[in-house]
Amino acid sequence: MPEHMLTNKVATITGGGSGIGEATAKALAQEGASVVVTDINGDAASAVADAIKSAGGNALGMRVDVTLESDAAAMVAAAQREFGSLDCAVNCAGVSDAPVSFTDMNLAAWNRMLAVALTGVFLCLKHELAAISRPGGSIVNVSSGAGFTPAPGQPHYTAAKHGVLGLTKCAARDYVGEGIRVNAICPGMTDTPMLREHFEQAPDLLEKVAHNAPSGRLALPEEMADIAVWLCSDRSSYVSGESIIVDLAGLCR
Ligand SMILES: NC(=O)c1ccc[n+]([C@@H]2O[C@H](COP(=O)([O-])OP(=O)(O)OC[C@H]3O[C@@H](n4cnc5c(N)ncnc54)[C@H](O)[C@@H]3O)[C@@H](O)[C@H]2O)c1
Repeated sequence: MPEHMLTNKVATITGGGSGIGEATAKALAQEGASVVVTDINGDAASAVADAIKSAGGNALGMRVDVTLESDAAAMVAAAQREFGSLDCAVNCAGVSDAPVSFTDMNLAAWNRMLAVALTGVFLCLKHELAAISRPGGSIVNVSSGAGFTPAPGQPHYTAAKHGVLGLTKCAARDYVGEGIRVNAICPGMTDTPMLREHFEQAPDLLEKVAHNAPSGRLALPEEMADIAVWLCSDRSSYVSGESIIVDLAGLCR
């Protein structure tokens, strides 16, 4: 019987109702963690928690809007109340937007993206860092390939995802002395509802992009989940402040 990586650990995840977050919530539970599955779509979060429980795991589904500090605080409190501690946290919630030029982008679109993809990560980090186990706590922020290289027509997404890497390094530096690790993963193009929605007007283009990539295919959400789980676990105990690009398709970029 292989040893589970997260036995007796308690984890939270944002954006856990879909795509990479859903796969990560399930992978955390498969490795033995009790998981507070959160999403702004509360029904989706509850459905993922129910699936985990049906498979024999421990989970709680909960509506959390990461743009609200009170929700971030409530997520952390739920982990402590329901399962007794907080050991791992994955900040995955995100939104996409249609490509737009700098000159056509309106302030509302900029503010919405920054609120979810950057301020949301900050608010969750703030409350997770205050409560997470020390030593031994581990936090994973989900950035993007756009955290390193620009996503065309996405100045707000690119800026937010670069910002997540800055937050990750800053938190890692500030909390390494307390035994808390903070890392980021930077997914390449991953087959999720968000990506499908992004290419809604041109599904043939998505197939072409995937086919022509060095890998010949998109990533699976489970391939992102595996890296997040490893970073949450003690198997990565000497890794912090890192931003791991998980992107076979972009390998030759
Ligand atoms: N799919 C990709 O190709 C890809 C590539 C790079 C990075 N990412 C990043 O991975 C993360 C997950 O993306 P995905 O592709 O799984 O998308 P997804 O749309 O399948 O899942 C995102 C989830 O976030 C939730 N969400 C949105 N706003 C929220 C808010 N304010 N509060 C809480 N939850 C909220 C949504 O309801 C949804 O369930 C995002 O941060 C995204 O930027 C995705």
